[in-house]
Amino acid sequence: MKIFLDTANVSELREGVAMGLVDGCTTNPSLIAKEKRPFRPLVEEICSIVSGDVSLEVVATDVEGMVKEGKELAQVAPNVVVKCPLTRDGLKAVRRLSGEGIRVNQTLCFSASQALLSAKAGATYISPFLGRLDDISAVGMDVIRDICQIYRTYGFTTQVLAASIRNPLHVVDAAKAGAHVATLPFGVLEMLIKHPLTDIGLKKFLDDWAKSGAQL
Ligand code: E4P
Repeated sequence: MKIFLDTANVSELREGVAMGLVDGCTTNPSLIAKEKRPFRPLVEEICSIVSGDVSLEVVATDVEGMVKEGKELAQVAPNVVVKCPLTRDGLKAVRRLSGEGIRVNQTLCFSASQALLSAKAGATYISPFLGRLDDISAVGMDVIRDICQIYRTYGFTTQVLAASIRNPLHVVDAAKAGAHVATLPFGVLEMLIKHPLTDIGLKKFLDDWAKSGAQL
């Protein structure tokens, strides 16, 4: 399973890349706004840091606007994937943009039925939002499982990108369900690394080594 970072923060992206763990990046208008930087230089920097796919989202809501913005965003760098919301116009935009060879990540997906339509429209990625479903007492992971099953059954090539991930269990369960990608906030990547028994075990090894007086 690929790991993407769900951030527009270049320090987090540089650190993730230095760890060798970042296969791509997803952004959204909220994440971009948080950085308080002019849009174009920010996204150009992100696309130069990350060698894998970088999702940049349109803000238009009508099909013509989404197609226009999508074409502009696709010019930023060759690794850009245009993000369009899963609306009626968003589905039309996926069809139009993918027909012109522009890859689309369809975002704000909350059901398997939406994901089926997105695959038929030609999306490269579908982004079901796990955490936001869990927040309203629906089981986000069930949606991921259903989408993976449907795509496998019919041989759709659309990749399932588990999004709105809040904790390490979301990542493990998405991997077990067969999601192609999980996009994580930087904090969740850090949580994946940590285990108290690793820290305790390392301390004990080093204490024993120091007491023995041995040298490497
Ligand atoms: C996905 O691409 C979105 O940027 C993201 O995962 C949304 O997550 P949130 O629900 O934590 O805002």
